[in-house]
Amino acid sequence: MNIHTKLCELLGIQYPIIQAGMAGGPANADLVIAVSEAGGLGTLGAAYMKPEEIRESIRKIKSNTEKPFAVNLFCTSMDDYLVGIEPVQSVLNGIRENLSLSPRGNDIQTENLFNGQLKILIEENVPIISTAFGLLSSIEIEQINSKGIKTMAMVTTVKEAILAENHGVDVLVAQGSDAGGHRGTFDISEDPYGANIGTFSLIPQVVDAVNIPVVAAGGIMDGRGLVAALALGAKGVQMGTAFLPSLESGAHPSYKRALHESNEESTILTKVFSGRPARGIKNTFITDFEKSGVSPMPFPTQNSLTSDIRKEAAKQSNPEYMSLWAGQATRLLRKSIEAGKLVEICITEAKDLLGNRK
Ligand SMILES: Cc1cc2nc3c(=O)[nH]c(=O)nc-3n(C[C@H](O)[C@H](O)[C@H](O)COP(=O)(O)O)c2cc1C
Repeated sequence: MNIHTKLCELLGIQYPIIQAGMAGGPANADLVIAVSEAGGLGTLGAAYMKPEEIRESIRKIKSNTEKPFAVNLFCTSMDDYLVGIEPVQSVLNGIRENLSLSPRGNDIQTENLFNGQLKILIEENVPIISTAFGLLSSIEIEQINSKGIKTMAMVTTVKEAILAENHGVDVLVAQGSDAGGHRGTFDISEDPYGANIGTFSLIPQVVDAVNIPVVAAGGIMDGRGLVAALALGAKGVQMGTAFLPSLESGAHPSYKRALHESNEESTILTKVFSGRPARGIKNTFITDFEKSGVSPMPFPTQNSLTSDIRKEAAKQSNPEYMSLWAGQATRLLRKSIEAGKLVEICITEAKDLLGNRK
């Protein structure tokens, strides 16, 4: 088994390790630069960023590394759905009191940033665009490919993988249920908590069903995970949680502490922060919202509604009200490590396991 896979050739990277584009701050320009410079593929988590902020980050990345990198966006409806908002806002107002936040009314409007974000990625000619929650249209993919930009899409089932391949995507990220953060499931109206197939079950079935490179995501933290993923037929791995505590990551210090204090039993799938199912460390916000018995609003409305609470929790360094997205393998996290060093260690471990250390 060779560490230098077809994925490395296709994306022009040295090692088949992709750092997940984690929206909301962790996957900032500094993290991307560190991972790409180390030979992996850094990904800017741009889904919640304003177009001009994305441009600024891309320019910072480009002026600090000549290596390839990716930018990640969400492909899903950003229309608000407001029916039933009153009981939800009432539960949230109760939670706001615990943080000394003023109550809020029922008027909410989520800004749809997608077209502006995509325009900037094309204008700035980023090497790779990756997406979650759905697919770019075939026309958008053609337009992107004609500029020499590659596309990657996250999938959670064989059905989604085939759809993505037929749309013309270059690389698939197959996300197992162990993964931290949002489930990438395209249509959660069919399955409200998303498709939840474990990484070990999902990867070989997706690999058998498609002809494009598959990247494994979910619970991969070290060289053992990388070798296992390659053995299942993946051409690389995408790691999110493992990079969260790294020195360059933009994750809040209280979040990093909560990650180190967590274990394989700490996370649950919840929709209470954003309206879409996501895996995170169970805390007071999740328990209190769930205790209310009120159903959260759909994405993106719930995400917009809880935004002030999450921001205030960060300001107060109170992890009990932050979204602490994390996968199921947090005992394997390394403390205060440089992201580039993490890439290097994973590769050394994998090569040792494969007996081809050079
Ligand atoms: C904090 C956090 C935020 C995430 N945000 C995104 C995102 O914005 N876009 C995306 O495609 N995936 C996102 N993910 C999911 C990752 O792409 C990936 O599937 C996951 O991290 C793999 O599992 P692991 O966390 O166990 O490594 C996020 C994951 C985490 C932990």
